[in-house]
Amino acid sequence: MLRAGRGERVPRPPMWAMRQAGRYLPEFLALRNYGFLERVHTPELAAEITLQPLRRYADRLDAVVIFSDILIVPPAMGLPVYFRPGPQFGRLLESPADLDSLNWKPDVHKEFRFLLDSISLTRRLAAAPTGTPIPPAAEDVGTVAGAGSPEGTPGRDQYWLPRSALPPTLLADMASGAASVGKAVPVIGFCGAAWTLMSYMIDGDLAPAPEAASAAEAAAAAPAAGTAGAAGAPATIAGSKAGERGLVGHKTYERSKRWLYHHPEASHRLLSGIADILVDLLVAQWEAGADILQVFETNGEALPPARFREFALPYLLRVAAGVRARTAPVSEGGPVLSVFAKGAHACLAELADPATSAYDVISLDWSVEPAQAVRVVREAAAKAAASGSAAASAAARPKALQGNLDPCELFGSGDSIASAARTMLAGFGDHPLIANLGHGMLPGHKPEALRAYFDAIHAHAY
Ligand code: CP3
Repeated sequence: MLRAGRGERVPRPPMWAMRQAGRYLPEFLALRNYGFLERVHTPELAAEITLQPLRRYADRLDAVVIFSDILIVPPAMGLPVYFRPGPQFGRLLESPADLDSLNWKPDVHKEFRFLLDSISLTRRLAAAPTGTPIPPAAEDVGTVAGAGSPEGTPGRDQYWLPRSALPPTLLADMASGAASVGKAVPVIGFCGAAWTLMSYMIDGDLAPAPEAASAAEAAAAAPAAGTAGAAGAPATIAGSKAGERGLVGHKTYERSKRWLYHHPEASHRLLSGIADILVDLLVAQWEAGADILQVFETNGEALPPARFREFALPYLLRVAAGVRARTAPVSEGGPVLSVFAKGAHACLAELADPATSAYDVISLDWSVEPAQAVRVVREAAAKAAASGSAAASAAARPKALQGNLDPCELFGSGDSIASAARTMLAGFGDHPLIANLGHGMLPGHKPEALRAYFDAIHAHAY
């Protein structure tokens, strides 16, 4: 996985699937008595869910993606988010004046402690041979501190659930070593890109009146309030009525695009503030043990090329450059940086340009023709090499590609899936590829369908 990500030759394409831990897995649904944010904010649960696909597809899967969400960032900036199960905001940005109320400098080690601890626990559980006991997270702080705990105290007071609320079998399996997997695959950390987060913060679904949120939910959705962890028993967040439907769901992005075109300065201020937080967040994930960092510009599809170039691309590039500047080059063991910019066909060449883009892997959505992407990425590398800049000669190698089977292909028969996989592989030819889907797994998928895809990739030797 890491060698393919660096653009090196490997015997077969390595593989993982976006949203590989999720509702299509019965073992994931078995943990749904815990709310989504409870699972995300409790390292033992997040690590276990992250590892579920690795246990199931142990002979196939080459990486795990940490169980979390791109929408953990707005709460750290002061906009609470609930999941029911789709994201709903406690408050949206309405006008540029609202920017002054945001927290532009969250302490990522404090606000995202749960994520960083989930990453390091996942890494230890994945790599340790079966039978090796692994202690639970933050063992030294065994209790949940309620409101008023000293600022910055590390440990379980930063998590949503006390250890006593965890499934006893999970703790027993960690203690006995039964939970250790013995397959040291890379851990993928991630974040949402600036434009995608901005569009959610303006056009997201608005939660019903705040009193509809349970106390535990409200406390944890806004961790800065300091009451997180006050609840002892798992509170579930299922089944509330949807509030006002936001426009991300409508796919018009009318309010957030109005900001771009009517308030360009305020938009750039917001985007650049988010981008700075993302750099801190990704560097922290790398330091916690994530080997690959993927940036999701899922709502890139909302913007026409010229506007994507103006409002999305600069921040995508800035995040990668910022992370690279604070870590190491990929050739010296630094993080593999990956970008998934959905619908950003027109900017593929810019993302692939070694002179300006620090990404190593360009992740393609399912609407991109593989052979066309290979051409664009190779041309971008050749052009940069010909220009003779220092950056270009350092990275004359074309960037790796990732993708891009239409997730809905997994609704086909086993034969149909294998044939679609072969068509895709033929399109990528011998270009360095990380096999993936062109968007995430869907709740209606059968686990056997993903196995059929993985089998077809596994059978493919260069
Ligand atoms: O890929 C993985 O397995 C890791 C986990 C992961 C989740 N969300 C878990 C999740 C990742 C990488 C994400 C990223 C994410 N989240 C994106 C970008 C990728 C993409 O899909 O385009 C976006 C746009 C979000 C925002 C988000 N989170 C939405 C729109 C929803 C509701 C839709 C849905 O799928 O339910 C979520 C909730 C969410 N995030 C779930 C999961 C497993 C489902 C909630 C649940 O299981 O209770």
